[in-house]
Amino acid sequence: MDQMIIRGGVPLKGTIAISGAKNAALPLLAASLLTDEVLTLHNVPQLADITAMGRLLAQHGVDFSLEGFEGSGHSMALCAKTITSTTAPYDLVRRMRASVLVLGPLLARCGQARVSLPGGCAIGSRPVDLHIAALEKMGAEIVICDGYMQARAPQGLRGAEIIFPVVTVTGTENVLMAATMAKGETVIVNAAREPEVTDLATCLVAMGAVIEGIGTDRLCVQGVDRLHGATHRVISDRIELGTYVMAAAITGGDLRLMGARTDRLKTVFATLAHAGVQIDTIEGGLRVYRKEKDLHGVDVMTEPFPGFPTDLQAQMMALMCVAKGAAMITETIFENRFMHVPELVRMGANITVHGSSAIVRGVERLRGAPVMATDLRASVSLALAALAAEGETRLNRIYHLDRGYERLEEKLGACGAQIERLRGKAA
Ligand code: EPZ
Repeated sequence: MDQMIIRGGVPLKGTIAISGAKNAALPLLAASLLTDEVLTLHNVPQLADITAMGRLLAQHGVDFSLEGFEGSGHSMALCAKTITSTTAPYDLVRRMRASVLVLGPLLARCGQARVSLPGGCAIGSRPVDLHIAALEKMGAEIVICDGYMQARAPQGLRGAEIIFPVVTVTGTENVLMAATMAKGETVIVNAAREPEVTDLATCLVAMGAVIEGIGTDRLCVQGVDRLHGATHRVISDRIELGTYVMAAAITGGDLRLMGARTDRLKTVFATLAHAGVQIDTIEGGLRVYRKEKDLHGVDVMTEPFPGFPTDLQAQMMALMCVAKGAAMITETIFENRFMHVPELVRMGANITVHGSSAIVRGVERLRGAPVMATDLRASVSLALAALAAEGETRLNRIYHLDRGYERLEEKLGACGAQIERLRGKAA
């Protein structure tokens, strides 16, 4: 397995282009199943998860071409002219939970789907019970058999009022896609408001869907007979942006982050301002640097959008490890998203976990060490800590990083980071 070697202590200086959003591109790719015409997506990030989704769609019968454009991301033209299989097999789904996003589109287009249950992952059990309950309310018959969700809607799906007891991003996305061609009106109450959900809804409207309330927690969908092709540009990745903002802050550097918008991370930027991070809007992006020599500990609680995103919790924890004072970080979305803690402690961090909260007491300096990545965001948190640490950090299992960060070592290396990837090294 590949390893990454990082020699820390270098303030990052330079410019980084932010890529298209992984968590917008994944549902957008699944949306190609809803039409027999071509869906063209621009600014698609080149990531392992995107490749995995492409592989899954290909076995459903989706033809797609990928053109690479330097800097402007990648364009994909997808066409599900004929769906040759409505089964999403376990060996593909287990590698990427977002595969569950084919369930709604397959039901809407074909009236049936056999999708492997995704199984748990490092950060939690991550059930899909809310997806199932919502689609059943829309008339689908779903049984669990041999680890698969066997779903059928022989008379097609019908509109319904769907009330989500907790905010679920992919649950909202699955129901939204299913509802576009259901008979009648579907109202989704307590819908996820993440910008990636809004990006999907915008693309579905371009494909001919009728959706009101986009960007709010109440989405109203009038079903139509069919959707047509469209061209859509994937929004920039706010989680990648937040990660590089913290990379500038943790190293005491000065970065220009291009292709980024400030309005999708307002809570994060307000929190970072309190911690002593200066974020200026410049032509085409942002400039990030420390307001003064030291950072200060600030408390964080993760919440659904527009709150502090759980996908930036681990990165924020790394930043707080080198701030003056203490920070209480509370994770409210997933039940096991502190796996970066023991690895950060091995680098000299002072962190105590009490249930879903962690108290971080800032230390003068972190020290490089061999550490283990466990999930996508935990692994990038360790990379941030390594960039600030004294000495060398050897990061194992960096395939997690490749799932969500396009050309990480290239982007950081261009800003002065001493970072290299060792191919195929044993863990
Ligand atoms: C999406 O996952 C993201 N993934 C995650 O990003 C992100 O952390 C998460 O939303 C929260 O923002 C994609 O968009 C591909 P949820 P999702 O359904 O949709 C519970 C990353 O690092 N729940 O919003 O799977 C669930 O257990 C990834 O890029 C149920 O109980 O998350 C969790 O506690 C990690 N039953 C809460 O809801 C369900 O049927 C929120 O989960 C569904 C969810």
